[in-house]
Amino acid sequence: MNPPLPQPQLLLAWYDRHRRVLPWRDGSRPDPYRVWLSEVMLQQTTVAAVGPRYTRFLARFPDVDALAGAEWAEVAEEWAGLGYYARARNLHAGAKALAAQGFPRDAAGLRAIPGIGPYTAAAVAAIAFDEAVVPADGNVERVVARICRVETPLPAAKKRLSELAQGWMAAAAARARPGDFAQALFDLGATICTPRSPACALCPWRGGCAAQAAGVQAELPRKTPKAARPTRHGTHFLLRDARGLVLVRRRAEKGLLGGMLEIPGTPWRAEPWAEAEALAHAPLSGLRWRRLDGEARHGFTHFELRMALLAARLPGTAEIPGHAWMDPAAARTAMPSVMHRLLTLWDGAAGQDAALRETGGAGTQEPSQ
Ligand code: ADE
Repeated sequence: MNPPLPQPQLLLAWYDRHRRVLPWRDGSRPDPYRVWLSEVMLQQTTVAAVGPRYTRFLARFPDVDALAGAEWAEVAEEWAGLGYYARARNLHAGAKALAAQGFPRDAAGLRAIPGIGPYTAAAVAAIAFDEAVVPADGNVERVVARICRVETPLPAAKKRLSELAQGWMAAAAARARPGDFAQALFDLGATICTPRSPACALCPWRGGCAAQAAGVQAELPRKTPKAARPTRHGTHFLLRDARGLVLVRRRAEKGLLGGMLEIPGTPWRAEPWAEAEALAHAPLSGLRWRRLDGEARHGFTHFELRMALLAARLPGTAEIPGHAWMDPAAARTAMPSVMHRLLTLWDGAAGQDAALRETGGAGTQEPSQ
């Protein structure tokens, strides 16, 4: 016998007592720009990490017009460390379109804005405009897979899970409060219906959960195993000048980490770089580079990156086309996490090695280009 359908009013009553206090739920009527920003930040980043960054972003870009009018470099700097930089690009592109035409007030209109996909459109429409749509993120998919005991693995089950969630929105109680219903599903997934050990005893929907009735809740949703991520290799060049400034360049606008600052280096490729071969990509030739022990690693969605680091110090300074000198602390703030791994490797080595700290393995020869 199937358990009874879950009742939205039970979930909403639970939400009214147990909702998480979050910076984008400040009690006032949800503002679409703020909802949009929070949803984009939350797509690949935890609630705990997003909190302070959301507040800081809003202080710098308080509304759509402020964001639309900003230079990309400012937006990239503000996004630094949050990862998945395509999100910041989409946000910036979306802000320009929204500043020109205003915020569409439904999911269909929002989907037409460059950079706003189906999930974000549904989340903004439900939370800011009370449209009866369910944004199905990972938390919601997990809740649905368990309540309805969907055994088909993800990602194949995505569409079905989203349709089932949408079916719940047909109930009058959910239609009366679509934004709260969507957020109640997020909170249930994040705090009770958690991936490994769901707290079923505390769940407002335990009476209607098919997975719990069968004792398989912790096994759902099933997932098709991912192929192992390939490894890529790069060698980077940490060059400091006599002022202690560090050499940086901006990545190409298109592609991975598009438009972000980086420490110059080789391309990232499948085979490791021999040092002599990597040196052909050094920003200046004629320097004595010193290879630091160890390597820096960073996981991207589609590959694992392993980076060697060569360090040198210029006796003076030099104009290097396509590059800029920056204060190391400011460079760290403006650069993506992958580059922090290199700076951390350098900090660790320099902390133990006065010669490296003072001279960066000093290139005593005059540089040539
Ligand atoms: N996860 C995705 N969107 C969310 C939101 N608005 N509140 C809490 N968690 C979320």
